[in-house]
Amino acid sequence: MTAPAFDMPIGEAMRTQRAIRRLTTDPVSDELVRELIALATKAPTAQNHQAWEFIVVRDPEVKAKLARLNRRVWRLVDKPVAWLNRKDPKFVRTHRATAHQADNFEDIPVLIVCCMTATRRAPSPVVAASSYGSIFPAVQNLLLAARAVGLGANLTTMPLTINFAARRALGIPWKVTPVCIVPLGWPTGKYGPTTRRPVGEITSIDRYGNRAWLDAEGG
Ligand SMILES: Cc1cc2nc3c(=O)[nH]c(=O)nc-3n(C[C@H](O)[C@H](O)[C@H](O)COP(=O)(O)O)c2cc1C
Repeated sequence: MTAPAFDMPIGEAMRTQRAIRRLTTDPVSDELVRELIALATKAPTAQNHQAWEFIVVRDPEVKAKLARLNRRVWRLVDKPVAWLNRKDPKFVRTHRATAHQADNFEDIPVLIVCCMTATRRAPSPVVAASSYGSIFPAVQNLLLAARAVGLGANLTTMPLTINFAARRALGIPWKVTPVCIVPLGWPTGKYGPTTRRPVGEITSIDRYGNRAWLDAEGG
């Protein structure tokens, strides 16, 4: 198989990228996964440390362990979270998709575990931002690259919640911190647009709270 061209216009990839949790079991080649990780690593990191590592999980035994951990956490949060958001139809859709992913986690073709290899103790929010801010840009690149070739993906932290057990399942040493997992596969269906808060509502001009653009939007 020749590597896909990743030539979707960036605006289209950004506008249409979203969490996709219903995936087929069709294979995703190593070649493609390698290219996704290569594109992920084009992201910035603090002082260009590139203190990241990725674990590509296909082994059914490892996937089964992570699936069990994911379900244990999901069972704890499922009902209370569903009840709290029961009147929000968008939430209900996401909730069903998350339940589907939990039920079918073993069948996800590839899991990419995104890790930090330099975790600084965080005496201030800025130091914390340098640590986690040096992995999430790469994760977003990975998600956009996946979108550009039509793969479905999402970002999940749930299987890592019982951290010790997740580390053991993956054989991760203490100096490495698993931050999130990107399950990857081909989507089962088509997906609608994302909903996001309007720019005017979240943007201040010159000083916090000056929502001049909100007025311009007629909000
Ligand atoms: C830090 C972070 C943690 C997340 N954790 C989870 C998770 O544990 N499980 C999950 O299904 N989605 C998780 N998500 C995905 C969000 O639910 C998703 O991005 C959000 O609902 C927007 O979805 P959309 O792009 O389809 O609109 C996480 C996203 C981020 C940025």
